[in-house]
Amino acid sequence: MKNLICVLALALLPGVALAADNPDWAYPVTPPGQPPDAVTLKSLPGSSKQYTQAQIDDPFNPPDWYPDEHPPMPPIVAAGGPKPAGRACAQCHLTSGEGHPESSSLAGLPTAYVIRQMADYKDGNRKGVRAGNMIAMSKVLSDAEVKAAADYFASLKPMRGFNKVVETDTVAKSYVGAGGMRFATAEGGTEPIGARIIVLPQDEARARLRDPKSGFIDYVPTGRIAKGAALMAGGDGKTINCKICHGPMLKGLGEVPGIVGRPAIYTFRQLNDMKTGNRKGVWVELMKEVVAKLTDDDMIALSAYLGSLDP
Ligand code: HEC
Ligand code: HEC
Repeated sequence: MKNLICVLALALLPGVALAADNPDWAYPVTPPGQPPDAVTLKSLPGSSKQYTQAQIDDPFNPPDWYPDEHPPMPPIVAAGGPKPAGRACAQCHLTSGEGHPESSSLAGLPTAYVIRQMADYKDGNRKGVRAGNMIAMSKVLSDAEVKAAADYFASLKPMRGFNKVVETDTVAKSYVGAGGMRFATAEGGTEPIGARIIVLPQDEARARLRDPKSGFIDYVPTGRIAKGAALMAGGDGKTINCKICHGPMLKGLGEVPGIVGRPAIYTFRQLNDMKTGNRKGVWVELMKEVVAKLTDDDMIALSAYLGSLDP
């Protein structure tokens, strides 16, 4: 009863509808933290490099742990552009383009699509709750820098197994920590997953070091992968078959991006942003009817299914 009264009271407050439109679990906010350690050198298996955490978190010279495993990075990707907004793309999206759950994977996205996204951030078409850094960046980069970054990420092959989807009823208790990432609490314990996607690193220590090969697990409620598969086909009239535009394997078609093997929580955010209008534009018009009738649970299911497929 007490809960019911709370819910009713919240529903009457202005502004609360907005919060419900952008569920907290999908839009993690980085809490203020201590400055990173600048003394202890860290290393990773198979890499001859060593960096302190302060170097690892440097927005204008992020780590390049495995320089032989990717094509040469243009300066904008490796070291950024105009300061302070023009950070190095590799800081958040990693040298592998796989990204972290709070950002996005970029590996293998079509060049024209990436260029269009940068224009959409700049023009106010993309203004989701997690888009702040991208908006600031899009305003200071030259066309040549955007093109060089887009070409770099388009040339990368997405990694299998970087993003995994696991169905569960309970999940480790966790908190949002450095870099906007979730980590399991030190005390341990579990909690019901509820109607959420909870993302944890496959290897916490390596994720903190921004290892470009160490991925994440998107925990989703039981039954959602099968539900997403059924929804994807569009048979029940709730949405439109994704393959029509995203290609027969859902790996992209022309300038339309691939949507499989991407971080499930990122996919949820995009479906939600397109539904609420925080993401719009000429090409997004094609997605409007796709998302119009979807509930949060439908979007969790679609994201879970797509995330469970190989990129
Ligand atoms: C400080 C972290 C950070 C840095 C540095 C960064 N990004 Fe991002 N990027 C993000 C986040 C967070 C998102 C997801 C935003 C959202 O949900 O709309 C994102 C999303 C994107 C997307 C959209 C992907 C898609 O599938 O639509 C593109 C394209 C992109 N970034 C390109 C770049 C480029 C190019 C650079 C370097 C010039 C860069 N980013 C640097 C954090 C970052
Ligand atoms: C009628 C064509 C069409 C259909 C059908 C369609 N999409 Fe899309 N979708 C697009 C286009 C075009 C874009 C790129 C928009 C842009 O360039 O900003 C897109 C973008 C997306 C994105 C954002 C990807 C990113 O990198 O940020 C997601 C997620 C997505 N679609 C999911 C789906 C799902 C799930 C379905 C099926 C239920 C679906 N789409 C069906 C045309 C379509």
